[in-house]
Parts: sequence; C-alpha cells; structure tokens
Amino acid sequence: MPKVLVLYYSRTGNTEKMASAVAESVEAVQGVDVELSYCVAPEMPSQFDALVVGTPTYHHEMTLGVKELFEEAAVKNVNMKGKLGAAFGSYGWSGKAPRMVVEIMQNKFEMNVIESPLLVQYTPNTKGLEKCRELGKRIAERLMHVA
Ligand SMILES: Cc1cc2nc3c(=O)[nH]c(=O)nc-3n(C[C@H](O)[C@H](O)[C@H](O)COP(=O)(O)O)c2cc1C
Repeated sequence: MPKVLVLYYSRTGNTEKMASAVAESVEAVQGVDVELSYCVAPEMPSQFDALVVGTPTYHHEMTLGVKELFEEAAVKNVNMKGKLGAAFGSYGWSGKAPRMVVEIMQNKFEMNVIESPLLVQYTPNTKGLEKCRELGKRIAERLMHVA
C-alpha cells in the first residue's frame, strides 16, 4: 500500500492545523497509508512514497527542525529520488519557507514535486483548511494512480 509521510513543524499551531487537514484527507482515500509526524529520523522519509512537509516561515527561514532533517538526510545520502514531494505552511507576510523546501526536494533530492507550495496566511480558515484537504487528496490519488 502506498504510504505518505506528512511531516510538520509549528510553533503557534497554525501549520499544525494545516498538517492535520492534509493527513486527514490522505487517510480518507482508500488504499493509501498516512503517517503524521512532528519529528522524524533523517532516514525515515525514504520508507515512504510521498513526503509532504509543512513548515511556517520565521525570519525568512524554514524552521530548524526541517532544515536539520534535510541536512542530515543529505549527509547520510538518504535516497528520495523520484518520490512525490509537496510542501505547505502558514506565514505572515513572505512565506518563503515552503518554497525553499520544494527547491531542496527538487534540486538536492531529485524528488518529483507535483505542485507549488500551499501557503496560508496566519491561522487557516475554512477555505484554507479545504485547500489543505484538496492537497492531501491530490497526493493520495496520484499515488493510487501510479501504484
Ligand atoms: C518572530 C517571528 C518571525 C516571523 N518571521 C516571518 C517571516 O520572515 N516571514 C513570514 O512570512 N512570516 C513570519 N512570521 C509569521 C509566522 O510565519 C506566522 O505567525 C505563522 O502563522 C506561524 O505559524 P505556526 O503557528 O505554524 O508556527 C514570523 C512570526 C514571528 C513571531
């Protein structure tokens, strides 16, 4: 069964709400497994078919946990080539972090990034959460399609 890892970091809970909505909608697609996690070992993403990373933007940066995960994965030569990748995150005014995540996914890990990052300003409202659910559904359906 295809497996999706939704990995997120959040300080004040906004990206966490997004992550829960993404994971919920992946789970709703029959035949796809999902794991929602706050912190994982750098080798872990290689055990999944898709990696969806949620990070807020702080000081024009992704959060340290995400940065360290990618750095460690690079040092350990974790192979994520060809895996599906996507990113999302809450932001205040620039929202650079999820864009950086997809850049790293594509350029360093040669992942298959299927769309632009999903950005939601501050606390996600109903519409924002719906966009998160749509993202999760698209990823799950894509995996079912290629499986
Ligand atoms: C100290 C601080 C620095 C921030 N820096 C940025 C920034 O550089 N760019 C941006 O778009 N938002 C910035 N924000 C806004 C956060 O991204 C926003 O509050 C977001 O909703 C936090 O998500 P979280 O609840 O998942 O932690 C900053 C917020 C704080 C408190």
